[in-house]
Amino acid sequence: MNLEEIKLLDKESYMNTFGERTGVAFEKGEGMKLFATDGRVFYDFLGGIAVNALGHSHPILKEALHNQVDKLLHTSNLYYIENQAKLAKKLKDATCMDRVFFASTGAEANEGAIKLAKIYHHKKGTGRFGVVSLDKSFHGRTIATVAATGQEKYQAPYRPLPDGFSQVKANDFEALKNAVTDKTCAILLEPIQGESGVRPLDKEYLKKVRELCDREDIVLIFDEVQTGMGRTGDLFCYMNTGVEPDILTSAKALGGGVPIGAVLAKEKFASSFTPGDHGTTFGGNPLACAAGLAVFEAFEKENLVENSKNMGKYFMSELNKITSDKISEIRGRGLLIGIELKEDVAKSVFTELFNKGYLTSLCGGTTIRLAPPLIITKDDIDGFIAVLCDILERI
Ligand SMILES: Cc1ncc(COP(=O)(O)O)c(C=O)c1O
Repeated sequence: MNLEEIKLLDKESYMNTFGERTGVAFEKGEGMKLFATDGRVFYDFLGGIAVNALGHSHPILKEALHNQVDKLLHTSNLYYIENQAKLAKKLKDATCMDRVFFASTGAEANEGAIKLAKIYHHKKGTGRFGVVSLDKSFHGRTIATVAATGQEKYQAPYRPLPDGFSQVKANDFEALKNAVTDKTCAILLEPIQGESGVRPLDKEYLKKVRELCDREDIVLIFDEVQTGMGRTGDLFCYMNTGVEPDILTSAKALGGGVPIGAVLAKEKFASSFTPGDHGTTFGGNPLACAAGLAVFEAFEKENLVENSKNMGKYFMSELNKITSDKISEIRGRGLLIGIELKEDVAKSVFTELFNKGYLTSLCGGTTIRLAPPLIITKDDIDGFIAVLCDILERI
């Protein structure tokens, strides 16, 4: 089918949640490149919004999936699953966490994390059930995660939302302290807010949040759905903050493109889930976990987390050399980068990048978000910088 035919079919049959999408459909990918149905070739500097950590058609992921498809796709969590146990062990060994539960998406992982914090307090009989999160956050599209997402546009159509959720300004410890009550069970935050424009939380702030949680027996949940799996130059972003959460969520890059999410928790909290308290049909099935194991294998064989750190530093330093007054700020860590542009040019820069064959996203109206595959090279970065400089000069 050509692009026009696909667009027409989409318009006729798909719910209109994504509106007028970017005008392209892809049929093949290889490494950093995506090939469109109309012959155009694009450099993928968004990585499926921080999903395609290995780029496209990575041989290790492809082989693992082919092998798994030949053997078995799905059984049920009624039975033991070798890949699930192995991937849980990988995550546990690589982090400060003791136990893992697999979901299928980031929102489902966050739901699981919120439920775990609630049940921890329920079983202790403290009467705490509230969740404080931050303005400009993004935690997903289910009802509870929308209630935790500090953005009016996502909450407004769905009121009344579940009880007990509130949001405060990010990086403002006094505001957070004032929002916490004797009913608060958890504080939920992204160490770098992704969707609203790549906004890192201060390390000093996070340290104070950790101390507050310790003092008040509040569960600290880090949503690392976007920042996790090597994206910020460490396997998880908490590792470069000096603060350990009690519960951590992951998804996006965990399966390199195959849907999988995870809730990781320290034993003290994880043990609150007992048989029947939580569950899932698809979460952690043999295929999804084969993908997760392959992502870890590629990370190890190709030092991709190290590459994320090194290429992230190089990318940042090259971006910081650009002198254009159309850029107001460059934020981020590792390969999660936000280029904040002046309002009058942001949309055109984004569109011009697309026209020149570079996929990025425009968040919060003025930030170009970059989340390229962790396989990225200096040459790829140099190519992007040259095109961006040219656009900034012309626009
Ligand atoms: C930080 C964060 N949390 C949660 C989610 C929701 O993940 P999903 O779309 O897989 O449900 C996202 C998605 O962008 C995210 O960036």
